Amino acid sequence: MTDIERTEANEAQIAVHWKEEQYFEPAQEFIDQALMRDPTMRERFGEKNFPDCFREYADILTWFKPYETVLDASNPPFWKWFTGGKLNASYNCVDRHLDEHRNKGALIFVSEPEDEVPYVMTYQELYHRVNEMAALLQGECGLKAGDRVTLHLPMTLDLPITMLACARLGVIHSQVFGGFSGSACADRIKDSGSHHLITIDAYWRSGKLIDHKANADIAVKVAEELGQKVDKVLIWQRYPGKYSSPTPRVDGRDVFINDLLKQYRGRRVAPVPMDAEAPLFLMYSSGTTGKPKGCQHRTGGYLAYVAATSKYVQDIHPTDTYWCMADIGWITGHSYIVYGPLAIAATSVIYEGTPTYPDMNRPWRIAEQLGVNIFHTSPTAIRALRRLGPDAPIHGPQHFKHMTTVGEPIEPKAWRWYYEQVGKSKAVICDTWWQTENGGFLCSTLPALDKMKPGSAGPALPGIYPVIFDDEGHEIPKGSGRAGNMCIRNPWPGIIQTIWGDDQRFVDTYYRRFCKNPNSRDWRDWPYVSGDGAMDAPDGYFRILGRIDDVINVSGHRLGTKEIDSACLTVPEVSEAAVVPVHDEIKGTVPEVYVSVPSGTKDPDAVARRVVKACEDIIGKIARPEKVYVVPDMPKTRSGKIMRRVLASISNRRDVGDVTSLANPEIVETIRIEVQGK
Ligand code: PRX
Repeated sequence: MTDIERTEANEAQIAVHWKEEQYFEPAQEFIDQALMRDPTMRERFGEKNFPDCFREYADILTWFKPYETVLDASNPPFWKWFTGGKLNASYNCVDRHLDEHRNKGALIFVSEPEDEVPYVMTYQELYHRVNEMAALLQGECGLKAGDRVTLHLPMTLDLPITMLACARLGVIHSQVFGGFSGSACADRIKDSGSHHLITIDAYWRSGKLIDHKANADIAVKVAEELGQKVDKVLIWQRYPGKYSSPTPRVDGRDVFINDLLKQYRGRRVAPVPMDAEAPLFLMYSSGTTGKPKGCQHRTGGYLAYVAATSKYVQDIHPTDTYWCMADIGWITGHSYIVYGPLAIAATSVIYEGTPTYPDMNRPWRIAEQLGVNIFHTSPTAIRALRRLGPDAPIHGPQHFKHMTTVGEPIEPKAWRWYYEQVGKSKAVICDTWWQTENGGFLCSTLPALDKMKPGSAGPALPGIYPVIFDDEGHEIPKGSGRAGNMCIRNPWPGIIQTIWGDDQRFVDTYYRRFCKNPNSRDWRDWPYVSGDGAMDAPDGYFRILGRIDDVINVSGHRLGTKEIDSACLTVPEVSEAAVVPVHDEIKGTVPEVYVSVPSGTKDPDAVARRVVKACEDIIGKIARPEKVYVVPDMPKTRSGKIMRRVLASISNRRDVGDVTSLANPEIVETIRIEVQGK
């Protein structure tokens, strides 16, 4: 079976069959005010002007020392962008806006409890907070450029303040999604070699004040077991001056940031001029093996790319109020809540809680109250918000000019609801395709220049040259509408530098498969392999079909099948485990798990419960299997490989196809009956 057949056998099946070809024009009102109206932009960013075209992106930033070379591609695939240049991300996102925007909102924090009034943090205040926190990191922890620090923070202002304080010093931050378990945090502490963990006592989620400090204790303990000693745990307080966690403080290790900050009031720390190629942050992402990959993003290229795409794709003007409902713990939040918007002096909203809490209309109330006019979310959130009344109009008072969707394919039905009900047929929609490794958007319509087509991410962005290969490495002709492996032919400034501490894995994962000549020093021989299946329609619009590797996309978040399998295998009775993606009306895909146990195992329900708990404890609630099937054996090939495809077909109520060549074909029907009934 080829990879593409595998693609079509999972979530992509839906996408392939959309066959949607209706176009929607951007509203004239939007076009008239758009920041990018130059119809020649793609041409200007065409191959004959590559890589110099990206000067335009770099020039959006303020450089302490100008760069000498746009792209140094002499050592593929370790590209270097804007070499010779020096800059500081914190300076670019804060200091340089003070003259013009000192008292304008930089960030607006919205608590989940609705009785807490939103807090507008001006650029001036952000400047003070970031400086003081940087002074604290220097003074209390001795942190300096190149050190790594792990953050395990939820969606409060403390998170961007901490990130920008690190960036000010050149300290590499590694923020772990707040919903991940202490144990998952420990893996990332160990891999990054952090000696400090920055966390918070508690935060609100779905009406509950969650004890987050408990995770820090687990993280430190597990990290130590892995051989990484954490010297200090720095704790923000959700309510400054009050400790909101029932978990005791560990003497000599745990310190309250708010107490310490008193000694640093009014302190200033000069932003450290960093090489354009200095790493800015690590963002761990799931891959096809058990170990998450530390995606290492550079300072200059990354910041230039996210600033420019925030400006030209998101169309954020300093006068707009922009709300991206993602979590800063994922790349979307790093690029399009913090770094991109702040680099261009936006006002960016941070919402602490669940979008549907306490009811489905919460987002529209927030939007109205704050005057949000640019909105950014995932298809999962769109489907969840639509659930209440798919055909009933929402009577929200919001007035969006622009809306983004990201993270998963959006089916035309959900797209239309977003367009008609949420955007009131006035807002443009950008369906943005990209990945943690990419830094910023790779495919999307340019909102004032391109028509929208529901279900298609749109053409490649300026300066991005995609190519689709079949499994044998032949280019699939442009516009043929045939599915294949989505690749990008050229380097671009937002791409990661490497995988932290593992250059070989970087090359093997993204560049090995379709490399034309491993000895070549010409970038044209080194296409980037995204791991997604896609097809390119005759109009040049790309329809992304989903992952073709062992990665599951749950609610727009990546989970490696091997990570989940390994978590299941920690349950002593489990002999073998296989997780499969199952189509879900709201979340797009959810994981279902098959585990085999030795015959005679008592109480399979208890085993199933332990499997669920293991996934939650080792990875986090996001990896919670929707169902666990305890089976006597797995369908296997003659070489002993578990046939996930067969299990996925059973879970998705699809025909399992021909299974006669399996080593144990009879087990398929046994499992089918267990799952689907007779
Ligand atoms: O399969 C693609 C899907 O999400 C994957 C990347 O996940 P992650 O690194 O967590 O980053 C998510 C946010 C950038 C991709 O390999 N994906 C992302 N955006 C889209 C998408 N699939 C279809 N359409 C999109 N717009």
